[in-house]
Amino acid sequence: MKFFRGKSDPKTVPKPNKKTIEHANRIKQYVDKQTSKLNEIEADDKTIQDGKQTEEKTDSPPAPAKQKKTSNAQASLEARIAKMNISEKQRLKILERFRRKEARRKSKGEKKKKQKKVTIEDFQTIKIIGRGAFGEVRVVRKRDDKAVYALKTMRKQDMIDKNQVAHIRAERNLLSAAESPWLVKLLFSFQDDIYLYLVMEYCAGGDLMTILMREDILTESQTRFYISELAEAIHSVHLLKFVHRDLKPDNVLISNQGHIKLSDFGLAKSFQSDDNVISQYQKQGSEIKEGADSTQKIKKVKKPYKRNRALMFSTVGTPDYIAPEVFSQKGYGEGVDWWSMGVILYECLVGYPPFYAEEPLQTCRKIVNYKRTLKIPQEAGLSREAKDLIYKLICTHKSRIGYAGITKHPFFAKCPWDKLETMTPPFIPELKNGVDTSNFDDFDAQQDLPEQHKKTEGAAQNKPFVGFTFVRPKAKKEKRSINNMFG
Ligand SMILES: Nc1ncnc2c1ncn2[C@@H]1O[C@H](COP(=O)(O)OP(=O)(O)O)[C@@H](O)[C@H]1O
Ligand SMILES: [Mg+2]
Repeated sequence: MKFFRGKSDPKTVPKPNKKTIEHANRIKQYVDKQTSKLNEIEADDKTIQDGKQTEEKTDSPPAPAKQKKTSNAQASLEARIAKMNISEKQRLKILERFRRKEARRKSKGEKKKKQKKVTIEDFQTIKIIGRGAFGEVRVVRKRDDKAVYALKTMRKQDMIDKNQVAHIRAERNLLSAAESPWLVKLLFSFQDDIYLYLVMEYCAGGDLMTILMREDILTESQTRFYISELAEAIHSVHLLKFVHRDLKPDNVLISNQGHIKLSDFGLAKSFQSDDNVISQYQKQGSEIKEGADSTQKIKKVKKPYKRNRALMFSTVGTPDYIAPEVFSQKGYGEGVDWWSMGVILYECLVGYPPFYAEEPLQTCRKIVNYKRTLKIPQEAGLSREAKDLIYKLICTHKSRIGYAGITKHPFFAKCPWDKLETMTPPFIPELKNGVDTSNFDDFDAQQDLPEQHKKTEGAAQNKPFVGFTFVRPKAKKEKRSINNMFG
């Protein structure tokens, strides 16, 4: 059969049936309606071109001028208007309007999805892996997408009683702002009447304290790996205008690949703000006069050093890593983090922290008198560069080096500062799966998650925590689940 395009002989054209006429009328009505709105669209023309207003109004990407994929609805609309007697300009405008409508509809749906509140009932507990001053850290699985996370629970009343509200707020603020690969990522934070919850990425490699407990002493090259990454992590905290203030090996987490991720920003504070957690030590510090320490006392500590996780459970933890200026109550800055890093560096290379003592108060004394108490044992066999770096970090805050000085220091001569993530970690965690907890101690505790409690708006215990709730916007390319690291 031949097919003739073009003007047809009216006599030979079959009469359209009723259905076709109805269909044509519907399309005509639609196109007429659209055409009558063209003037309106004309006014928006400029907006369509730069796409900005669409983005603001709908919180979605601007309607694309050209789409790679054409939806079915759009294809059928295009087919219809192709048959109508309208100009190309009008046709394009009708299509543009249609696309914008679709984009708005989609973004509305996405917003609704986003608004679904996250609660504790969305998670299943796998195991408790840590205990802190205000609650536990558990490995959990999110029920809907099966993604694995670390969940930190904290009792609100404990935070209020112990004056920690500002700290947990700082932790939440810092973690939610952090985009650095060296800082543990916070995915959600939420609350009910009893608890606060932080849902973070799970670092299955354990923490630096686990490594030190297992290895005792690290080589200079192993130490260089951890300390260079730690320096980068500390630097990213400072770039966010925070001081960590609680740097110690158990807050240096190890990712599934063996790189470090800094966590526990409970003590992190914006620069120059007031605080009273360290005041316990400050009080002690005022009793600790410089020079009050006798050399005899220092020599007495001959007992083998034993790392102790239980110290972490107390509100104040161990003072081993605190810089001396913290005790002076004169105010301090980001230099305190570099001091702490120096202490960790010493501990990795020597096997125990430099100011270790049986009693925390004794440790505080040693710190204040660091000029006399800091000794690097000869038998530790440290290189000249390593010793020099220790002395440039554990020293008065006026001459202490910071990020720039550290990156230029000879100890890091061969360190690839601009691509640290390409270094091969000294210890790569051997993980059976994404929920492997073999790098953590066993905690003899109630493993189940707290029951879901309601959240009463305006209740007294909730007032200090207004604005705590957070959901990290999904990154474009990154997937949330850590399971995908296991293929
Ligand atoms: N995201 C995480 N992934 C893996 N382990 C974690 C994570 N967060 C915390 N932990 C473990 O739990 C311990 C306590 O958590 P942390 O946030 O440091 O609480 P605290 O403020 O009470 O010290 C850590 O030392 C670490 O062993
Ligand atoms: Mg901690």
